[in-house]
Amino acid sequence: MSFPITRLRRLRGNAGIRNLVRETRLSVNDLIYPLFVTTGTGVKEEIPSMPGVYHLSLDLLEEEVREVSALGIQAILLFGVPDTKDEAGSSAYAEEGIVQQATRLIKRVTPDMLVVADTCLCQFTSTGHCGVVHYDEACGTAEILNDESLALLVKTAVSQAEAGADIIAPSNMMDGYVAAIRSGLDEAGFTNTPIMAYSVKYASAFYGPFRDAAHSTPQFGDRKTYQMDPANGREALREAESDVLEGADLLMVKPALAYMDIIRALKENFDLPVVAYNVSAEYSMVKAAAANGWVDERAIVLETLTGFKRAGADIIITYYAKDVAAWLREN
Ligand code: PBG
Repeated sequence: MSFPITRLRRLRGNAGIRNLVRETRLSVNDLIYPLFVTTGTGVKEEIPSMPGVYHLSLDLLEEEVREVSALGIQAILLFGVPDTKDEAGSSAYAEEGIVQQATRLIKRVTPDMLVVADTCLCQFTSTGHCGVVHYDEACGTAEILNDESLALLVKTAVSQAEAGADIIAPSNMMDGYVAAIRSGLDEAGFTNTPIMAYSVKYASAFYGPFRDAAHSTPQFGDRKTYQMDPANGREALREAESDVLEGADLLMVKPALAYMDIIRALKENFDLPVVAYNVSAEYSMVKAAAANGWVDERAIVLETLTGFKRAGADIIITYYAKDVAAWLREN
């Protein structure tokens, strides 16, 4: 009788030994929780396509932030849903803008909570685009201008830092945005404020529910002239490399689920922390299946997030952060 020499099952025999040899562990320290803040009072409006995710007005933000903090989550990503929009997205960089006000509030209520400010214009522009639009009436075409947009993004980043944001997270995909924002922050005295660059952001259908949530659907066209083609992987390395050379401190891949190869590629090619953004439709799809009783929500979410870490993510942005923090405590 011959026996298998290698028996991989030896290390799977019970929970203790499986725990001992486990290669990847999820921790509450890995998590960033996104929040949508809006104007008005008493607003806690559930986003229909994202059950469990809300628009919150500032008066209700305090309670929410305390809850997030009590769960051990140490970072919040802020998205603003303003009441006014214009072509230049001026509410993105107003001193009393919604993100600026929310940042000040969070830093007052929970000074140790890291505020990550999403630096983009699309929620604030009447066009719904992430930059300044130039219309050519004669040709009937519109172009998203790169360098003109940079100036506004720098203003936005600086005003967020002035409000107390700990990390600037530009998601606009303009060329040269990291260098522009870095020098803008430095000149304003924020030399120690890190930039979490949405380096590799694909033009993805997985942002659908977010656009309902943030009211940031482009009013015409799409984002394909600035966000990346989902078919491209090598180009992701060029995007990341240019951000590294321009002074990025953290590199993000977005979305996460369909782009685990890109997470891995960034981890292998760069020594910066890698952030995976588990985006809105990745959340909504699990929610919908769970609501139908088709999947075990907790098991699916923990497995997915563990997969991001195994692929190379150091940090995960997820709408599931509060649930995950609670589940990890129970485990
Ligand atoms: C803004 C922005 C988007 C997301 C984050 N920042 C939407 C977009 O580019 O259309 C998507 C986040 C998500 O889907 O959860 N530029």
